[in-house]
Amino acid sequence: MHIEEHKSLKNYNTFGIDCTARYFVSVSSIFELKEVLKAKIHSNIFILGGGSNLLFTKNVDALLIHINLKGIKIISEDENSVIIKAMAGENWNDFVQFCIKYNYGGIENLSLIPGNVGTAPIQNIGAYGVELKDVFESCNTLNLNDYSIKEFSKTDCQFAYRNSIFKNKEKGKVIITDVAFKLSKNQHQLNIGYGVIQTILSNNKQLENPSIKQVSEAIIAIRQSKLPDPKVLGNSGSFFKNPIINASKFKTFFSNNPEAPYYKISEDEFKIPAGWLIEKCGFKGKRIGDAGVHKHQALVLVNYGNATGNEILTLAKKIQGEIYKTFNILIEIEVNIFGYVLK
Ligand code: EPU
Repeated sequence: MHIEEHKSLKNYNTFGIDCTARYFVSVSSIFELKEVLKAKIHSNIFILGGGSNLLFTKNVDALLIHINLKGIKIISEDENSVIIKAMAGENWNDFVQFCIKYNYGGIENLSLIPGNVGTAPIQNIGAYGVELKDVFESCNTLNLNDYSIKEFSKTDCQFAYRNSIFKNKEKGKVIITDVAFKLSKNQHQLNIGYGVIQTILSNNKQLENPSIKQVSEAIIAIRQSKLPDPKVLGNSGSFFKNPIINASKFKTFFSNNPEAPYYKISEDEFKIPAGWLIEKCGFKGKRIGDAGVHKHQALVLVNYGNATGNEILTLAKKIQGEIYKTFNILIEIEVNIFGYVLK
């Protein structure tokens, strides 16, 4: 094992925040992972995957373990479907493209989401009508205390909108080491209902019977048109969750804002796009120092270069406060904040 000290994490988080880890190690096998844990190099452990849903607000005074477990394997298959397992350190979009190449359908709408396979279940990643839970079969975890391996089924994971057991009861207790997905081999159930997907497919004359590759390409084009590439402009995707409000609150909101977009989830639950609320409060494209709100998608906060985590967080709190004042709606932060206790 190769342990580094005071390692810069700038290239290990998509926000590009410049902070350090007291000790840093990258592990590429479960054996190595267990050895590192048993060595008790520091009393605190910090597990890092793709660093794409994370904001550092201070240096990490811990042993930071970078999960670099690689590999993709078919577990079983029949005529119509395949169970495919990917190790936690595989890049998410590389895995999506691998599946598309072999014509395994189900995750094409999740193309180009930053991050790694192992962190995808934690927040139940989702986009354009598909969530990870729709194709999730199971995942294996390593317990940080006794190093035991435990499999979590879909039910065990308690998936919800950008949420799972790994953000709650199991937080800080286990490391996801691999994830298995159930994907289709033919008669793919495409999710192309979003207007913007329809428009692209129609412009490309692919609307009749699109392939999963064509759907993936359409999704990539949509994402590239409004979401900043973290390699060019530091960001963590959606910084906030879309708030869900009850019917009585929605009634008041809608009578004051009849032009607002919304999705009815159930008789008593209405989801309002936080991006719309943020834009309405005048934050879209705003910049304070090197911390900013993206000019094409207000839900995304960006680092223009040298913003600190605290500067990004200060901007986020300002946005939260303004939205609460204007709409009486609390928008929750979706990104994991390291080094700050959120109230
Ligand atoms: N909107 C605005 N102004 C903005 C941004 C959005 O008015 O600056 C409005 C749009 O016009 C649209 C609505 O808000 O009517 C929804 O916008 P969009 O389709 O861009 O989706 P979103 O709700 O803002 C969610 C996910 C994204 C995902 C997209 C597409 C969350 C927190 N975010 O965003 O996920 O790509 O839907 O499915 O649910 C991520 O989690 O990192 C992420 C990018």
